[in-house]
Amino acid sequence: MTYVGKPVDRVDGTLKATGAARYAAEFPYPDLAYAALVHATVARGRITRIDAGLARKTPGVVAVITHLNAPAMKPPPKPTPMDLSTMATSSSVSLLNTDEVHWNGQPVAVVVAETLDAAREAAHLVEVEYTELPATVDFAAEEANARPQKNTLLSSANTQKGDAEAALAAAPFSVDLRYTTPGVNHNAIEPHSTTAYWDGDQLVLHDATQNTTWARDQLAIRFDVPKKNVRVISPFVGGAFGGKSLVWPGTVLTALAAKVTGRPVRLMLTRESVYRTVGGRTPSIQRVAIGAEAGGSMTALIHSSVSRVGKVGGWTEQITTVSRHMYDAAALQVRQSLVRLDALPNTIMRAPGESIGSFALESSVDELAYQLGLDPIELRARNEPARNPVDGKAFSHRLLLDCFEQGAKEFGWAERAPQPRATRDGRWLVGMGVAAAYHPAWQFQANLTLRLSADGTVLVRCGFHEMGMGTATAISQITADTLGVPLDAVTIEYGDSDLPGAGTAGASAQTATVTASLLDACEKLTDGVFALARKTPGSPLRGHRRQDVTARDGGLYRDSRGESYGEILRRAGRESIDAQVGSETRLGELTGQVRFMSKFLMDRRRWMKAACGAQFCEVRVDAETGEVRVSRWLGVFDVGRVINTKTAASQLRGGIIMGIGMALAEETLVDPRTGRIVNASLSEYHVPVHADIPTIEVRCLDDPDPTMPLGVVGLGEVSVTGVAAAVANAVHHATGRRIRDLPITLDKLL
Ligand code: MOS
Repeated sequence: MTYVGKPVDRVDGTLKATGAARYAAEFPYPDLAYAALVHATVARGRITRIDAGLARKTPGVVAVITHLNAPAMKPPPKPTPMDLSTMATSSSVSLLNTDEVHWNGQPVAVVVAETLDAAREAAHLVEVEYTELPATVDFAAEEANARPQKNTLLSSANTQKGDAEAALAAAPFSVDLRYTTPGVNHNAIEPHSTTAYWDGDQLVLHDATQNTTWARDQLAIRFDVPKKNVRVISPFVGGAFGGKSLVWPGTVLTALAAKVTGRPVRLMLTRESVYRTVGGRTPSIQRVAIGAEAGGSMTALIHSSVSRVGKVGGWTEQITTVSRHMYDAAALQVRQSLVRLDALPNTIMRAPGESIGSFALESSVDELAYQLGLDPIELRARNEPARNPVDGKAFSHRLLLDCFEQGAKEFGWAERAPQPRATRDGRWLVGMGVAAAYHPAWQFQANLTLRLSADGTVLVRCGFHEMGMGTATAISQITADTLGVPLDAVTIEYGDSDLPGAGTAGASAQTATVTASLLDACEKLTDGVFALARKTPGSPLRGHRRQDVTARDGGLYRDSRGESYGEILRRAGRESIDAQVGSETRLGELTGQVRFMSKFLMDRRRWMKAACGAQFCEVRVDAETGEVRVSRWLGVFDVGRVINTKTAASQLRGGIIMGIGMALAEETLVDPRTGRIVNASLSEYHVPVHADIPTIEVRCLDDPDPTMPLGVVGLGEVSVTGVAAAVANAVHHATGRRIRDLPITLDKLL
């Protein structure tokens, strides 16, 4: 292949670097108005008075919309996987159609003004009074009230194999540990933004979203118009990480403001408004207990978690997923339970579940290794399962130990003194830590059309999403290689709900999802081109069989015989030829989905598919102040085939950086009395900056998964998993201290 597997530059790189790429808040409209949100200041209650007098007097204010004057919308549909058009619901609250408040920060008014400054200024002047109702807001205090989570069709929250508690009690060696991780917030570079306008009963939105179809469907339901009346356009998204999967209040309220004012309206959330209206990662309390024989064989593995959802909605995280797949323990028990709070619904964030679950599991494995006097990599090798531990399914692909082996060699693991606090460099205590990374592979269904024109160009139309991962580039590469055309002959249209739907850019599934349909479409297209050539008099391909002909060099060839696509089309008197996968009718899409999901779930019954990897970390800890610096990083990953070595490495690095943030800095602080997030800004919520991050080396084994399209296993999320544990294990190796509560801030090390 010419392009696949190469470090091809991003096809949209120049657009982005020159500022020509337009994001949702950058589309100019004459008569554009600007919106700002007013947030509730109580966790639960009813609004008794809203005084917008001062706000309305602010020069430039166009409208102040509250529950007193907002037009009625349909309530949010209950999200169910059985009806994909409901899936984008982020909470059950009928915003601005009720006087009820369900979380501290819920939008209670929208101000629209001629300028951004006027809107934000006036938003501060809206006075709201409440009758407060008793609220449950303190996650830690509710641990005892956690209720068991139920198993669902797509995920199982509770699994048992043998009697793990008895095996643990009988084990000669064991650890039984408690971990806590805080809630963390979404902080994409581009805050959630929407520009919306109504043309009669047609709604057009530029929205930063991971799923234009879900967003379109949700808005059509809320505003009670047919889906075809709503268009969601989102060609560029400035980072999303799960935070832009669902439709959050800002999007709905911008469409509402545009309706009320009859003007195009833009809402770019302030960073504070992102914290108050877009869910983050759940906090967790976890128990991991492992029993082992003296040789290291695990006899028991127990992993249980408590996490949070809002009473009005929220994502139930699969925190214990990793413990179902990582180690060959004779007895296994995973359990998840939930606390329901009067809080903003939490949502998915890069490797929801695995990222925090792997912190607890991989830290515990390290502790057990020390107890056994075994190298932590060796302990993992001795417990590497031949088949999926919970159910004995075959792994489609799993090179975890190869990742550890290659990583150990390159990182110099063998030179590490086994005992903690043994290496010092001046004031710095130096330590190395390791942890496994793991993320299940998913695939959804994409609809897609292809057009090959007589000038040799190819147009791919598919409503996938580009949030910075490089999907457009990867899909261009695959198209060019499969049809045998140059990369610059390929144009891709994406990020628009009017295109054939491609489902969600989530679960690290997008490349595999689009690739499957793209390969089908390319096959159909070349079949069509060949059929034209075969029946056209004078074609050198007349009389040949399809299977003897290959797509290459811009045409179809058998040995030296054949001709370019342009020649074939022109000879047949055609300007272009199309191929399509999936259907654009509602019924067609639905049957396509059902057919796809049943095939996918059958396949998953047979195979356990996942990406995995080995994270190697070196830290330096200031012996006096407890300051932790990450000084070296190497991640070695098994992500199946790599389509673009440059964008893949970039994405893997990004995940590691996000994991370092989780390990050392990030923490959403909630006032336990009021439920209010108190650090809703990047000045008080710390994310790593360049000065915090060393050179991060990433390697991919680049071995195709035989069960996935082109062998692609998703790589968007796996690299955030295991990171926090590798850091914590390195901190322990440096200092002798085990920190089991994230983030590992210096106060915990003194
Ligand atoms: Mo991802 S957290 O599924 O965007």
